[in-house]
Amino acid sequence: MVGKDCVKVAVRVRPFNKRERDAGSVCVVSMASSSVTLQDPCGGPSRCFSFDHVYWSHSGFSREGGRYLAQEPGGRYADQACVFQDLGEGVLQSALQGYNATLLAYGQTGSGKSSTMLGHGPNPGLVPTLCHRLFHSLTQHQDSLQSQVFFSMLEIYNEQVVDLLCRGARAPGGLRVREEQHRGFYVEGLRRVPCDSAVQVEQLMEQGTRARTTATTHTNANSSRSHMLITLQLKQIFSRESITKQSFISLVDLAGSERQRGSGSEADRLKEGTAINLSLTTLGNVISALADVALGRRGVHVPYRDSVLTKLLQAALGGNSRTFMIATLSPADICYEESLSTLRYADRAKRIQNRAVVNESPTERLVKELKVENARLTQRLSRQEGKRTEEESKELRRLLRQNELQIRAIQTLWEQNLQEALRDWEQQYASITQERRMMQVHPYILNINEDAQLSGVVKLFILEGDWDIGLSDSSPRCISIRGLGIQQHHAVFSNSQHRVSVTPLPGSKLIINGNSISQKAELQHLDRLILGSNSTFLFIGYPSERGEEDWSRYDYDYFQSELAAAEGIHLHSQGEPSGVSGQTDPSLLAVFYDYIKLMPMLAEANQMSQELHKEVEFKLEIKNLALSDARGHDLEKDIAVRVTSLKNRQVWLWSKSKFVNRKYLMEELYQQHQAEGGGAVGPVPRERDPFWDPVEPLLLGKAHLWLQSLAFRIALDEQLEVLGSEGTEEAIVQAQLIPCSPTGLSLSEEDILIDPSELLGRRLDFQLVLDQCCGLRWLRQARDRGVQIGFQMFDCVQLFTPAVWHNVNPLLDQRIHFTSLQTSPALLEYLQTSALVLELWGLQEGCVELAWCLEGVGTTPEGSFIIDQASDTPAVCTVDSLQRDLEALRKDNSSLRDQLSMAKHGCECVRGQAERSQAERSQAERSQAERSQAERSQAERSQAERSQAERSSQRSSCEVELGRSLKVFYHSMTSVRALLQGLRRHRPSEDAGLQALRLYVCEQAAQLKVFSEELEQSVAALKQDVAAIVRRKRERSGTWS
Ligand SMILES: Nc1ncnc2c1ncn2[C@@H]1O[C@H](COP(=O)(O)OP(=O)(O)O)[C@@H](O)[C@H]1O
Ligand SMILES: [Mg+2]
Repeated sequence: MVGKDCVKVAVRVRPFNKRERDAGSVCVVSMASSSVTLQDPCGGPSRCFSFDHVYWSHSGFSREGGRYLAQEPGGRYADQACVFQDLGEGVLQSALQGYNATLLAYGQTGSGKSSTMLGHGPNPGLVPTLCHRLFHSLTQHQDSLQSQVFFSMLEIYNEQVVDLLCRGARAPGGLRVREEQHRGFYVEGLRRVPCDSAVQVEQLMEQGTRARTTATTHTNANSSRSHMLITLQLKQIFSRESITKQSFISLVDLAGSERQRGSGSEADRLKEGTAINLSLTTLGNVISALADVALGRRGVHVPYRDSVLTKLLQAALGGNSRTFMIATLSPADICYEESLSTLRYADRAKRIQNRAVVNESPTERLVKELKVENARLTQRLSRQEGKRTEEESKELRRLLRQNELQIRAIQTLWEQNLQEALRDWEQQYASITQERRMMQVHPYILNINEDAQLSGVVKLFILEGDWDIGLSDSSPRCISIRGLGIQQHHAVFSNSQHRVSVTPLPGSKLIINGNSISQKAELQHLDRLILGSNSTFLFIGYPSERGEEDWSRYDYDYFQSELAAAEGIHLHSQGEPSGVSGQTDPSLLAVFYDYIKLMPMLAEANQMSQELHKEVEFKLEIKNLALSDARGHDLEKDIAVRVTSLKNRQVWLWSKSKFVNRKYLMEELYQQHQAEGGGAVGPVPRERDPFWDPVEPLLLGKAHLWLQSLAFRIALDEQLEVLGSEGTEEAIVQAQLIPCSPTGLSLSEEDILIDPSELLGRRLDFQLVLDQCCGLRWLRQARDRGVQIGFQMFDCVQLFTPAVWHNVNPLLDQRIHFTSLQTSPALLEYLQTSALVLELWGLQEGCVELAWCLEGVGTTPEGSFIIDQASDTPAVCTVDSLQRDLEALRKDNSSLRDQLSMAKHGCECVRGQAERSQAERSQAERSQAERSQAERSQAERSQAERSQAERSSQRSSCEVELGRSLKVFYHSMTSVRALLQGLRRHRPSEDAGLQALRLYVCEQAAQLKVFSEELEQSVAALKQDVAAIVRRKRERSGTWS
């Protein structure tokens, strides 16, 4: 019976994890009946998807003894049992009916795939529950049913298949995937273990997980990049009906989906040629192609053969299988992009149509046919006994016997296999029981892995006496471990009188609780140990030392936070994660978590570089820690990796994603090197070498040249400090801003503007002068280097000064003239609020110098760069200038009106005075009566003129005075700003003790005092000046009137 089945797709959202809680994350996922809505944290439209099932496992739960349970019966929270009810049950029933069944878990790393599939401690996932239910069902029907279950477990890492149940040495390059006509693709030589109980399967899974853990540490691989595939092969022989059914149950925990897109948006020379996870990318392509097929597109090629995973899942995808997919989501806003991509993926998957059939394999048909044949022979024998010759009967009996033997052989083979597997399992079980017993008695170290699923899998006991730990396993007193940076003899554990200590051997790295150790150190219960570059262990003391604490808090993040703290990168005090979380800046939190995530990867990259003789060193940097944008706002912080060649001091700065991408390529190179016996690596062509890049100019730091003075047409001469990303002083740049005439002549004090809005609509010319760069740190480190300065003035293109080489204090001697033909409000606002950001670029031998492209840049006939070009567009220009004209006319009009009324008032005063004096004069000196009217009018006129001139000169002198005071104030502000910068820069040294810290605080307080005094003085001086100007103005206008 052939039916069309669509892939059933479910989505599950997990609770916030610690990082997300600390970062104050917001849940962007909501669910209702069978739909999921994802809210864009940036305010974009919400996305809604519908699926066969949705599981809300984000909130509404309580934890009892580590078990996640719904807070109230029938509550919203979907626990493991709830997920099993739909998906697990679906898989189980399909398999029992004889269909192949597949269950895939898809989602970004940490979204809950393994938790859903395998589960954790008291929260068993789909796989263990499925096994329990399967065996339960088989035992219930054992009267009418004979069954066989085979278990296998494999991992696909970097397109290699690793058998996780393999007992012997691993095949180099992994197992081969073969294809046979009737079987399809299969893994050649994969161990299939017969099982007859769920406990046995669980045991095997534990064994597989252990193998996975050691594989990751041995080959320096990352479990989030690997796919784990568990296959249960179920055979059911229904003796009464003479039917045999066979089904394959494939349970797949896929690699973290985020890898699919490789290194994010960042361009990397090596990105194109590498598929970070070919299997996952191909799975995406297969799903897309199948979704297209389902939509009726013809001639679609489904690229099953392009990767190992899709070969093995061919039946599951569009073939003979009932397939289920669970897509897991993080609820957090910071994971929005990943969650959206997961939902889109899942949405496509649900369109895939499969054609599942109940299976009868040839072997079973043989048994069935043999049985039918036997029945026929028996019948013939009984019917024809009398008639046939002796010969014939003999022949029939022989055939009958032969057939029965064959049937028995097939059945006993299974019995034998099962017995063998049980013996093997008993051995394993005995060793696990032994391990559990030892855990109750002895101290030990416990592995801690980045993948919680693989943590606590390896336990190394430290019995009485001295124990060598390292790669070596040459003596019985050796504890053999492998991992990056582990020496042959790495350290010695001593256990005597119930005390355990550890001594690192010369040249080996050992970190305890975040601190590097070079001498013998006594261990306390729950101490954190890092051996080599990144082999992390938790020390479990004698049972008498163990309390009730929850060990699970000492996870991988905890180890890395502790290391970061030792490097001075703190988030908050260890152990009180939520104490200040409310106040921590989320962007800083994100950087902190990136830092601790990259730290172990960096240690590994350094170790690989050393072992592969690559002679490059990696160091983490926090980008923009001390830098701000053109308006002085903090720039977004981010992590960068500084790569330095130890050979020639060349430096590269890699983005986080580029480093992660490269790290994977390094791992591949390293694994290849290990596979080839760890000798010297053959030369890798440069174009494929992940440790190498062509040299490029490097952004060393930035300086801010504030443009405010230009708005007043005041010249500015500054010594600017170029700050590196982390606040280091990279250089001092001498720069000037000079307002000038169109021909480049400096303006005089008289041209200073009181009101910058006077610039609007007028031409503005100014020059940027870059005189010299002093004390270049970049050059002090190595002389075969050079620098350039890049900057972008308003809407002009990015310009660069010519390169200067081999000089710590190079002369730049650059004078660049800019012109705005008609200053727009936008330019004016820019001048008043922004700084010109001068970028200092470091050049290294062999790198291409930075050049500007003047395409589209206008120049005046004098050759200056035209800025503010947008305001030149005709329409904008007309409206703007009309508006400006109107405004100016209004102003003129009102001032003329003022003048008129003043003049009138003046005239009346003068007339009154004249009349009074005339009366006096007529009384005293009649003789003067002959003074001509013409003379008098002349006097009146000149008086009025003088008053007018006085008034206007009084106004212009006030303006000049104000301009001067502003200039003084502006200059004093420059020195105040320098003080502020000094204060910001001044930090205690990293290893400062308490005494030094006290000194630092005193110094800082003294500087702060100087700063505030200067600030107050400057402001007070300005206030005084302004008050004096206002007073004088009043006095004069009083005298005048
Ligand atoms: N449904 C859930 N309920 C509670 N905790 C969960 C759930 N899903 C995931 N987690 C927690 O999230 C962490 C990461 O989950 P994990 O399954 O290891 O992710 P993945 O396998 O996708 O990388 C684990 O520590 C796990 O305890
Ligand atoms: Mg996982």
